[in-house]
Amino acid sequence: MRVNMRGAAALAAFGVIALAGCSSDRGGETEADPASTSTAGAAGGEICIEEGAAIGVALPQKTSENWVLAEQLFNEGLTEAGFEPIVQFGNSGVTEQQNQIAAMIEQDAQVIVVGAIDGSQLGTQLERAKETGASVIAYDRLVLNTEAVDAYIAFDNFRVGVLQGEALLQGLAERKGEGPYNIELIAGSSDDANSTPFFEGAMSVLQPKIDDGTLTVVSGQTSFEQAATAGWQAQNAQTRMDTIMSGSYSGDTELHGILSPNDTLARAALTSVDQAGKDTPVITGQDSEVESVKSIVDGEQYSTIYKDTRELVAQTIASVEELAACGEIPVNDTEQYDNGVKVVPAFLLDPKIVTQENAAEVYADDATLGPLTEG
Ligand code: GAL
Repeated sequence: MRVNMRGAAALAAFGVIALAGCSSDRGGETEADPASTSTAGAAGGEICIEEGAAIGVALPQKTSENWVLAEQLFNEGLTEAGFEPIVQFGNSGVTEQQNQIAAMIEQDAQVIVVGAIDGSQLGTQLERAKETGASVIAYDRLVLNTEAVDAYIAFDNFRVGVLQGEALLQGLAERKGEGPYNIELIAGSSDDANSTPFFEGAMSVLQPKIDDGTLTVVSGQTSFEQAATAGWQAQNAQTRMDTIMSGSYSGDTELHGILSPNDTLARAALTSVDQAGKDTPVITGQDSEVESVKSIVDGEQYSTIYKDTRELVAQTIASVEELAACGEIPVNDTEQYDNGVKVVPAFLLDPKIVTQENAAEVYADDATLGPLTEG
């Protein structure tokens, strides 16, 4: 699934989008009922979403720690904001997620927040949500090929890839001496709309170095399709790396670096390289998972990306509160994320690169990851 990207265009000036008024199914604009003005009312006390209203949050699968944390934060944050959260994982796959969204609509969810397993397979359900007057927010992962998405709230995924590509080059120079270097490429799951911008961002940095001979992908597997990892499953990445190690690195050929799109796949790749008896390569990651942060501090994994899930969830809940007060979803980019039928207005947060050098500083106020003991 390739998302039509405009590349890393500069973010548009901070803007907001005016969303259609409240649902026709709900009898149009909700009159400001004095009894309900205690809810998330705008300055004028206008209410579009009543206190205690259901807010659906359809999450994908627990393929990394960030999703587990998101579930907890959405439940806590939406309850605290006075809503009734319906937060569910589509553990068994796309069909389950489709059914969950349909059920949320039946439960009169006023906003559907969706972290899609496969963003191209939710059009029917989200179009129904819009018919009922609900708003639809794509969370972390873009929803594709449908008009039925009002906004996208995520860390800038193309930027994530650029940071990973830059970190790989920096790590090679720091740890592997002079080039040229042998590398391999791993991409995320092709049904995750993020996987393409991650890969394209990284390749925008690495391709020129492949072209000039600084980097060689010894296996020859340089396309997104060849590098993709079904379902973000660690075992799939490890099995693919096992085949590459035996096929391309059996003799004295060294593997100097690996582009990995997230931490779970990075650790799987490191296991494969270790089992092949080769030195630890410079390897990137994403999500600041506990085990990988430890590996980075210990000097093994080279880098990860910090995308503070607390920020992403807070921005999403703040958007729900804006809608509740008949306001608008804040956006800061109206150019980059074309979902195949529309450019989806987005609020993009800034991802941070983390290496051994800055880990303690980056995680200083993160209760789970910090404060890190030095060294
Ligand atoms: C992506 C997310 C990444 C990583 C991946 C695997 O959508 O943006 O941070 O978590 O899923 O779970």
